[in-house]
Amino acid sequence: MQNLVRNLSRAATLRQLEILATVYRLGSIKAASEALHLTQPTVSIQLKKLGEAVGMPLYQMMGRKLVFSDFGREIAQSATRVFSELSGLEMRLADLRGLRSGALKLSVVTTSKYFIPHMLGPFCERYPGIDIQLNVGNRQQIIDRLERGDEDFYVFSHPPEDIDTVSTEFLVNPLVVIAPESHPLAGKRRVSLAQLAKEPFLMREPGSGTRFAIEQFLKKQNLKLNVRMTIESNEAIKHAVMSGLGISILSAHTLTFGGNAGLVELRVDKLPITTSWHMVWPKSKSLSPIADRFLQYVHDEGRRLIEGEFKRTGLIATKRLR
Ligand code: PGA
Repeated sequence: MQNLVRNLSRAATLRQLEILATVYRLGSIKAASEALHLTQPTVSIQLKKLGEAVGMPLYQMMGRKLVFSDFGREIAQSATRVFSELSGLEMRLADLRGLRSGALKLSVVTTSKYFIPHMLGPFCERYPGIDIQLNVGNRQQIIDRLERGDEDFYVFSHPPEDIDTVSTEFLVNPLVVIAPESHPLAGKRRVSLAQLAKEPFLMREPGSGTRFAIEQFLKKQNLKLNVRMTIESNEAIKHAVMSGLGISILSAHTLTFGGNAGLVELRVDKLPITTSWHMVWPKSKSLSPIADRFLQYVHDEGRRLIEGEFKRTGLIATKRLR
């Protein structure tokens, strides 16, 4: 048998094996010749040569019916497996060619800048030839960019509803109430919405997605906050909270990766506000192979990575930031 395989690998051509596999699959020389765009005599000659290379007959004709010998059947089945493996290889190679170089363009809302770079790290390591372009802006600025549609993806927790897009949800985004450690409500088991409303509040700027989510929440609860200051940056808000200027509501992601020293989460009724992160792109745009791979990565490894960080800091589980 070993000799037989050696003869086969030396004398048979891949084309002959393909012909054999096709005859086996379709059950006749005529059907195989049509499928392969060959004449019937060519198919028969190639099968004969293959039989000679193996030193065994591969099939015989019983009347008009083609009957495979045990050898012929075994070789045809192996050839079928080889060709299916080769076609998988072809797809993987094409995929790799597409991923070797090119660009991935992202526009993300400011709050997601805390975790998006952590997702990009392992992806860039795997595909070092890909050039990444990352724009950051508040929700309104990213909506404006989405309208122009120059990027592959836009990351929002509140995608706009009036633009025709595809949107996939990939991660939770809890918005939590933060206060300085020394705050009288810190450590209280329960803080009411009425108590929250009395506190001086630091609000993100108009156009911010965080502000949009807070305003939707307030409307639903029929509540008005005591807004003391409008601040255009999550980091500046955290520092203002630390220094006792007021309390605020921010995405927990600003604390997981951005640090939470000196801050605590207040246990306020109906909070956190739970939203989720979305990868968004214009419906009219088809994804490039790079974008497609990135999307798969985000939903799989990328998401696990960020969820792991949440678990590690114990943020959601304990509700205390430290
Ligand atoms: P923002 O967006 O950074 O503009 O506040 C955050 C969000 O969309 O939740």
